Amino acid sequence: MEKNRTATEFLHIGNRLLDWYKNNARDLPFRQTKDPYKIWICEIVFQQTRINQGLNHYNNFIKRFPDIKTLAEAGENEVLLYWKGLGYYSRAINIHKAAKQIMNDHQGVFPSLYEDILKLKGVGKYTAAAVSSICFGGSLPAVDGNFYRVLSRFFADDFDVSNSRAFTYFSELATLVMPENVGDFNQAMMDLGSEICKPKNPLCEECPISGECLAFSLQKTSDYPVKTKKTKAENLSLIYYFIHREGQFLIHQRPDDFIWKKLFEFPSSLPSEMERFVTGSKIINHKLTHKNLTIEIVNVEVSSEKVWNDFIIENQYLITDVEGSHEKSFPKPLENYIQNSLKD
Ligand code: ADE
Repeated sequence: MEKNRTATEFLHIGNRLLDWYKNNARDLPFRQTKDPYKIWICEIVFQQTRINQGLNHYNNFIKRFPDIKTLAEAGENEVLLYWKGLGYYSRAINIHKAAKQIMNDHQGVFPSLYEDILKLKGVGKYTAAAVSSICFGGSLPAVDGNFYRVLSRFFADDFDVSNSRAFTYFSELATLVMPENVGDFNQAMMDLGSEICKPKNPLCEECPISGECLAFSLQKTSDYPVKTKKTKAENLSLIYYFIHREGQFLIHQRPDDFIWKKLFEFPSSLPSEMERFVTGSKIINHKLTHKNLTIEIVNVEVSSEKVWNDFIIENQYLITDVEGSHEKSFPKPLENYIQNSLKD
């Protein structure tokens, strides 16, 4: 960035974004409330999920858990069930823990200070800034990928967004354009970033600030933001045994582990007395954010009633069927497998 910028030089840009937001804000259910609980949930849900994809889940979640107390008192597995389809299940586990934290540390009242919001489980600087600015008049920019993209393009700024100092850098840059109403400004940046200043094919002709956007005037919007380090996905192999008999199959719950925390899955080892019932296996490739998974699912069709009964009396697994599996949350590839496996 060039030096010597004055604090007020770009203030009209923030105000223009506010005007634009007034007329173009998306009509979203969480925009009809200032309830910090609902805003917090929406920020967590929509941080990594597109609005269209997450809206039904958000509405269902809020309907079942309309306030902090209801959420804190619910069982973890039910919270996970309502998170089904949104992915990143650790977010649901953290939300649940944070609700309990609010009950214990804040008498059930959502904290209003940025520093206190930041202490909640699973809440980072972005979420704390978003909730405090939207609900409590907080004055920090909610810097996320939208901010990186809009600001780096507007200033044709080649600061590397994969740099660990990017958050601080773009927070400072944001203050150059930030008007007084930070809550609406933050939401205007979110809307501009997802509807207009999109990663690919931005709609510059509809952008309220393209007249002063440096990347636009240089016809270089696709050069920004600059990102040098690509986080390399790790390869990981998993094996599961789909051990079943007459529509029933064995499952267990994952521990608080590195992936798919607390979700249900098939056994990862095969009891020796089951070995003779293996009928084949299939490989499924599945991508997580930082992992490429190769999942082998071995089909074990137990045709002996005696072996099945002897085994299920004394084992640590739960037994379920397709119907019952709807009541539990499974990783997506396993859920698909279940739906297809016992069809015929
Ligand atoms: N994405 C995450 N939070 C949002 C909000 N408050 N408005 C629009 N998009 C969002």
